[in-house]
Amino acid sequence: MRKLVLFAIFTLVCTLCLFAQQTPDPTGIITSHYATPRNSFVAGAIPKADLDRILHAGVRAPSARNLQPWHFTVVQNLNLARKMVSDTVEGNVLIVISAEGDGKTNNVQILDCALATQSINLAALAMGYGARIYTAPMDSLNKNLKGELGLPRGHSAVALVRVGKVAQGTDAVSAPSSRKAADTMITWK
Ligand SMILES: Cc1cc2nc3c(=O)[nH]c(=O)nc-3n(C[C@H](O)[C@H](O)[C@H](O)COP(=O)(O)O)c2cc1C
Repeated sequence: MRKLVLFAIFTLVCTLCLFAQQTPDPTGIITSHYATPRNSFVAGAIPKADLDRILHAGVRAPSARNLQPWHFTVVQNLNLARKMVSDTVEGNVLIVISAEGDGKTNNVQILDCALATQSINLAALAMGYGARIYTAPMDSLNKNLKGELGLPRGHSAVALVRVGKVAQGTDAVSAPSSRKAADTMITWK
């Protein structure tokens, strides 16, 4: 009888350990993702249904007073995309996030757009695509490409998210890059 009880306890402990190991970390996609390296993007079309799901994440992003000031311009045209990100490959999609204002001083809209940008970025990564946020192209984009992109009147781009297929074996979310120590950036009051 004693052996049976011990065996039952042992089995229970093993089961709990296994369960703990298999329970996915709910913050996983947020804490373990990293920007897809530029040379990991490969050619290949993204199904419209997947693009719609990724854009839906942007649409569902929170915004101040729920004003949703953003507009998403989906660039699938390779020549146009390469005017913003020169190493774009066939099938990559650039999602330009814009809002009314100059893209520099309209702070509330910029923050709203930043939240939508990250939602789009995380949704693409969670679906197994490569994704990378870009802001370096914004100045030349806002100076030269607003018309060609068809940005809404008075809008300036705040950021873009490059979404695309990644080379096999390049798991888009498995190698988090280093960050500063948490205790150097957190204050408890
Ligand atoms: C607001 C913002 C702007 C960025 N702009 C660019 C960019 O213009 N070009 C680029 O290659 N990567 C850009 N990145 C990607 C960052 O370089 C990358 O996310 C950062 O180095 C952290 O690395 P990790 O994502 O691998 O952890 C940007 C990221 C953010 C959040």
